[in-house]
Amino acid sequence: MNTQIIKVSPINPEHNVINLAAEILKIGGLVAFPTETVYGLGADAFNPIAVRKVFEAKNRPPDNPLIVHISSSEQLMELTDFLPEVGKIITDAYWPGPLTIVVKASKFIPAIVTGGLETVAVRMPNNKVALKLIEALDKPIVGPSANLSGKPSPTSAEHVFHDLSGKIDLILDAGSTEIGVESTVIDITVHPPLILRFGGLTKEKIEQLIGDVKTTEDLKYKKRSPGTRYRHYAPEAKVVLFERSDALAFNQLVQKYIEEGYKVGYIIYSDEIRPDKNLIGRILSNDIEVYAKELFHSLRDLDLQDVGVILVESVEPRGLGLAIMDRLIKASKSKNK
Ligand code: TXA
Ligand code: MG
Repeated sequence: MNTQIIKVSPINPEHNVINLAAEILKIGGLVAFPTETVYGLGADAFNPIAVRKVFEAKNRPPDNPLIVHISSSEQLMELTDFLPEVGKIITDAYWPGPLTIVVKASKFIPAIVTGGLETVAVRMPNNKVALKLIEALDKPIVGPSANLSGKPSPTSAEHVFHDLSGKIDLILDAGSTEIGVESTVIDITVHPPLILRFGGLTKEKIEQLIGDVKTTEDLKYKKRSPGTRYRHYAPEAKVVLFERSDALAFNQLVQKYIEEGYKVGYIIYSDEIRPDKNLIGRILSNDIEVYAKELFHSLRDLDLQDVGVILVESVEPRGLGLAIMDRLIKASKSKNK
């Protein structure tokens, strides 16, 4: 299959481009589309054959369910028979936006979408291209991140092309995504609500609105999003984390890996860390929002430069930092490294 890339304006998406993409979805094709978080891999959520192709293209385990993307609150009511009060409150406040809610699934949703679970994850993305595409199809679309399973999520059309070229019909290229980490996933079928995945909407912002929530780090909660069981967000290179501002640890790690014969790369942000000019790396902003936006891109970039190990400076685990540390810790764990 030849994968087409078409540029589309993020501010005023061209009708003809959106219509072409919607036509592809209508006949069961796959279209990668931008959201405010990362690029998603779209298919008609009510077409099980198309949804199966999404799993195949990504090489995604079938028990890892997909997020259904909607463009209006009415569409939510086709996906669930029951929206708890707290669901209405947070979606009124934060949709469209980087928030995914898990609710009881209606009987109309194909089992392949939910991995056979009784719940479904739903989100309304804050991106004109995505919203117009869903409107043009006039149906919700599934949208896992448009990367090969296990790789860092794509924050640009080039990343999607790198992972999925030849496997999908079309990539809508609207430039780099704004947020750079995926949406926050919150299960509102339980009380108090349970954050299953930290993401673009901070825990603090959710709690301001609906009071205390639980997270999967609270030990009593064994429940996990199926996706969090798998190795994730990992570049080809080995990822090694070190404490923020810890220049001594950084220098020792550099020496250790060079002695072991690795080509060493780094991702840092604080002034205390002064890498040798011979090393390849990225110095990111200490503004956490800018850091989030650049992180996946930097991991992929260093991979392209064939480094064997990437030393990554940890961030404070609060606000967006919770999502970032979650991704980095997962990237640093691996089967055989
Ligand atoms: O920002 C995002 O959420 C991006 C953009 C494209 O919208 N999408 C995304 O999808 O990150 P994906 O498939 O890469 O991650 C979805 C996560 C997985 O961890 C999955 O296990 C979880 O949501 N999930 C989906 N349905 C669920 C359900 N019914 N119950 C619990 N977790 C669910
Ligand atoms: Mg993903």
